[in-house]
Amino acid sequence: MAKRYLVRTFGCQMNEHDSERLAGLLEGDGYEPARDESEADVVVLNTCCIREGADTRLYGTLGHLKGLKERRSAEGSDLEIMVAGCLAQKDRESLLERAPHVDVVLGTHNVGRAVELLADHRESGRPIVEILEATVDADNEQFPSALPVVRENPWAAWVTIQVGCDNNCAFCIVPAVRGPEVSRPFGDILAELERAAAQGVTEVTLLGQNVNSYGRDLTLSARSELKAAHGEEPATMRHRVGGSWMQGERRPRPLFSDLLRAAGEVPGIERIRYTSPHPKDLRSDTIAAMADVAAVCEHLHLPLQSGSDEVLAAMHRGYTAERYLQRLSEARAVVGDLAVSTDIIVGFPGESDADFEATLEVAAEAAYDNAYTFVYSPRPGTEAAASEAPEVPRAVATERMSRLRAVVERSSRMANEARVGRREEVLVEGPSKRDPRRLTGRTRHNRLVHFEPQRPLRPGSYAEVEVTSASTTHLIGSLVEVLSTPKHRTKIPVAAL
Ligand code: 5AD
Ligand code: SF4
Repeated sequence: MAKRYLVRTFGCQMNEHDSERLAGLLEGDGYEPARDESEADVVVLNTCCIREGADTRLYGTLGHLKGLKERRSAEGSDLEIMVAGCLAQKDRESLLERAPHVDVVLGTHNVGRAVELLADHRESGRPIVEILEATVDADNEQFPSALPVVRENPWAAWVTIQVGCDNNCAFCIVPAVRGPEVSRPFGDILAELERAAAQGVTEVTLLGQNVNSYGRDLTLSARSELKAAHGEEPATMRHRVGGSWMQGERRPRPLFSDLLRAAGEVPGIERIRYTSPHPKDLRSDTIAAMADVAAVCEHLHLPLQSGSDEVLAAMHRGYTAERYLQRLSEARAVVGDLAVSTDIIVGFPGESDADFEATLEVAAEAAYDNAYTFVYSPRPGTEAAASEAPEVPRAVATERMSRLRAVVERSSRMANEARVGRREEVLVEGPSKRDPRRLTGRTRHNRLVHFEPQRPLRPGSYAEVEVTSASTTHLIGSLVEVLSTPKHRTKIPVAAL
């Protein structure tokens, strides 16, 4: 019988995508998916360390798996445990000190090695820790265009366009665990989009820590290559963008906006999303591409972090509240009917009442459709964790958080209520968890919609839905018409004989 695997993901979209790769690699090696730990021969925990809590969850889960592994070994079988992702990259060998029953520790730069490392462990009978310091180049396994993926939803694909981050936000562990920014070659990204579309994918999310600086490293290296070849930089630079050459451009290409435009040309891709741009780098050409390219969804995730200029400066964010709001209104003016979401941290060291009031004001003015709000947690090794600024007491942070939630929820509810009576294009995800007679899907704005279909409708279908009511978190609607049914193949389970 085939061995079974289970991948559990903690954390962000980058991690969810890495999990799809880990699943793809294991299935490529003959494993089949397990429904839960009790069925699994290998459990992979793909971890995140951006915020506190992930550690607690990881070590809690490892504690639970320890008992299971011991029972297995008493029965003469095994449960192999692999820890991957940011926490593995950060904790390395020390992870084994806290959890000696872990068999493989795999970092963020070598996801493609999962199967080999499991084999190494089996051969040696010892725990294996393999952590690389950085992505060597964009052709290595960090951008495994050749690596298989098992998509959570067959109609939706994450596509990594860049890994790492060159910024140094004082609170953030990402540069330490994901390394410097490396952009994936333009042609590879397009090829992956085309392949995904051919498999029936209709929605793609372009992933990067700072998507707006996509291409910066590519053009820098192209420049130095040209310099090496010609002794000096040519006066006009030629860069291949998609299928055509751009010549005599004052700006080196490709830019992120070139990528949005080229992605918009891929037949079959109906929706393009991306996450996240950095407010300091959000350029007019990106906003213009959002407006021009029909497939790019009218949704911008623009992390604010704080509305206080002092806190923003201490965080090294590179913008002021006023500049942020200017960018936002430019985007709203150019891209009609734009939904906006954000990330905000409360309780950054030294955040005063006045700083927090500024955050409330900016959040109210920005009138977010949705916001991810976090209580600051010190990440060892970051600048903020060593800060001398006074800590914000937990109770104060919690109280601030509930006031911020009230502001954000007010604008979410108003934005949702403004949709009542409108018709929305909904990409169907499946039956609603609360009420199985209803289907759940998302609009181009990424709003959750529940509606009753008159007849069964497969996940991945597009439907036009008239919105009949709204709450803070979702819309309720009625089906107007089915726009399209999915093109991906449905897996037909094969019963064991
Ligand atoms: N504490 C709290 N929130 C954090 N984030 C990143 N690091 C921290 C931290 N140390 C939040 C930021 C970021 C999101 C992905 O996680 O808001 O945009
Ligand atoms: Fe972290 Fe800042 Fe880079 Fe985002 S831009 S990944 S918050 S360092």
